[in-house]
Amino acid sequence: MRPSAIVPVLLCVAALILSFLCLFAGHKKNFMEDYHLLTLNTSRLGYEFLNTTNGDSSNPITDLFNQFTNDVQEDINDVLGDTAEALGLDDFYSVHMMDYCFGDYTPTPLPNDTVSSSDIHKNVTGCSNQTAMYKFDPTAIIEEKLNESGISVTLDDLNWPDDIQKGIDALHILQVTVFVLYCIAIALIALSLVAAVFSVFASGRLSACLNFLLCGCAFLAIGLASAIITAVIVKGSEIINKYGNDIGIEAHRGDKFLAITWAATAAMFVVIVWWLGDFCVGRRKKTATYAKHG
Ligand SMILES: *[C@@H]1O[C@H](CO)[C@@H](O)[C@H](O)[C@H]1NC(C)=O
Ligand SMILES: *[C@@H]1O[C@H](CO)[C@@H](O)[C@H](O)[C@H]1NC(C)=O
Ligand SMILES: *[C@@H]1O[C@H](CO)[C@@H](O)[C@H](O)[C@H]1NC(C)=O
Ligand SMILES: *[C@@H]1O[C@H](CO)[C@@H](O)[C@H](O)[C@H]1NC(C)=O
Ligand SMILES: *[C@@H]1O[C@H](CO)[C@@H](O)[C@H](O)[C@H]1NC(C)=O
Ligand SMILES: *[C@@H]1O[C@H](CO)[C@@H](O)[C@H](O)[C@H]1NC(C)=O
Repeated sequence: MRPSAIVPVLLCVAALILSFLCLFAGHKKNFMEDYHLLTLNTSRLGYEFLNTTNGDSSNPITDLFNQFTNDVQEDINDVLGDTAEALGLDDFYSVHMMDYCFGDYTPTPLPNDTVSSSDIHKNVTGCSNQTAMYKFDPTAIIEEKLNESGISVTLDDLNWPDDIQKGIDALHILQVTVFVLYCIAIALIALSLVAAVFSVFASGRLSACLNFLLCGCAFLAIGLASAIITAVIVKGSEIINKYGNDIGIEAHRGDKFLAITWAATAAMFVVIVWWLGDFCVGRRKKTATYAKHG
């Protein structure tokens, strides 16, 4: 018996739950929506463009808005608060591990005198079908929505930067890798959990050693997955903000997702240290016993 092995058992359970949540957060509407990888805020898409070309009626976007604001100039700013809506787009697109969700910011996408930014919430309208090995492709999503909305505005009209697509393409291979790594990590953490449960009943240095090896592999897998997904999130939002801010697109990083994936990694790290400690203590005890018996 080794009752103290309940510590790694509990930590493995925590790591297992957290890594499951990393995969499944947001896989359906309103399930842990806040744990997104990235959120694209498209509520101001086309706004800057409109502002500078105000009055130039040769542009399809200006034409579109002229329908709403034909006479009174003051009205323009009311309508333009949410340019995405006029374009038939959603205010935001949030990326998850296996799908993306979309919807509108309530009560309004832009903070004003009465509505502070902390009062603004996401109202999810729906999510894409979930797919393993899902690849996030903002260009295709926006293009599809523009096509669906039936207005004659295309990505070219919005000056959609090609560089966004180039940057995102580079991240796709990482996104596929990271999905596989999470699956491997979940399997290894589950094995570590089973081994830890066994070692509550069977003590001995061999079991500590075996546990240590298993947990070490699990830690490597979840650690690598966390490192890669961090790179995807940080780099992805950087690229989108760099090229997208000019046309009114903002990317928000999923800090809560990063928190849970690194928490799972940290839990597995503590488990490794625990087994290492157990192994060393077991060794000292054994040496002490030999010494006593001569
Ligand atoms: C848009 O135009 C308004 C008034 O013409 C101006 O106050 C505002 O700064 C402009 N915004 C941008 C982003 O250019
Ligand atoms: C802020 O936005 C809300 C929601 O659109 C609106 O009801 C309110 O009048 C706005 N406040 C100001 C000061 O513009
Ligand atoms: C969310 O959007 C739906 C329609 O898309 C609307 O009926 C509902 O009232 C909205 N919820 C909030 C909190 O604004
Ligand atoms: C999503 O799944 C439903 C049924 O499961 C299917 O009818 C629909 O075509 C799918 N949509 C896409 C975009 O694949
Ligand atoms: C949108 O429409 C354009 C032309 O009408 C077409 O070339 C493009 O492939 C369509 N995109 C999607 C995603 O359907
Ligand atoms: C969405 O992006 C616009 C600028 O593009 C910003 O002013 C607004 O605060 C953002 N809204 C939210 C809810 O983050």
